[in-house]
Amino acid sequence: MIAVLVLILVVAVAGLTMIVIQTLTLGIPPMPSTRSMRAAIRDAVEGAMREMVCGDGPAAAPRIVELGCGWGGLARMLARTFGDSRVHAVERSVAPYLWCTAVRALFPLPNLVIERTDLLTIRIESPSVVVAYLSPAHMSALGERLPHTGDIVLVSCAFALPGHTPSRVIALHDLYRTPVYVYTFGWGARS
Ligand SMILES: C[S@@+](CC[C@H](N)C(=O)[O-])C[C@H]1O[C@@H](n2cnc3c(N)ncnc32)[C@H](O)[C@@H]1O
Repeated sequence: MIAVLVLILVVAVAGLTMIVIQTLTLGIPPMPSTRSMRAAIRDAVEGAMREMVCGDGPAAAPRIVELGCGWGGLARMLARTFGDSRVHAVERSVAPYLWCTAVRALFPLPNLVIERTDLLTIRIESPSVVVAYLSPAHMSALGERLPHTGDIVLVSCAFALPGHTPSRVIALHDLYRTPVYVYTFGWGARS
């Protein structure tokens, strides 16, 4: 019994240490988005999907890419809501990634893929709706890498994409009136 408790303690301390170290190296903690943020992100993704599928955009259901999915709650919500879309969730930090994969193993969602990689290195294909809740530094780095051609919509919670004008800004009814920015590249930007 004591051995089990010691093991649990060691795993918890190791996990917490890893989270702290990776928070310092990545520059952001694995802090989950709030309910109201998730509801606004879901609505923004839904709006983007509707315009992409019904407007002059692509006929196939766009992919959803979540950059920095943390513990995976938002990714799972998006995968459940948009069952026709492939949700590609990316996370670098080990502890949240292991948690996401464990939850996925216990409660599989066929359209959810979780990958442990650096969000700045992934290839974003068209058509995609990209979801992010990151930091100003991440958004600057992303702005240089995000393809500005093809059919891509970026939904960014709280942080703007420097040098770009959002097509829509949703203000949450929370304490900080947190903005959710929507940027449209490709077909939407041309129209
Ligand atoms: C504020 S959390 C957002 C969590 C999740 N998107 C949500 O809404 O609940 C940001 C996440 O981005 C991850 N992250 C930061 N830099 C990253 C990078 N370069 N590559 C992959 N993930 C990264 C962090 O580990 C953290 O879990």
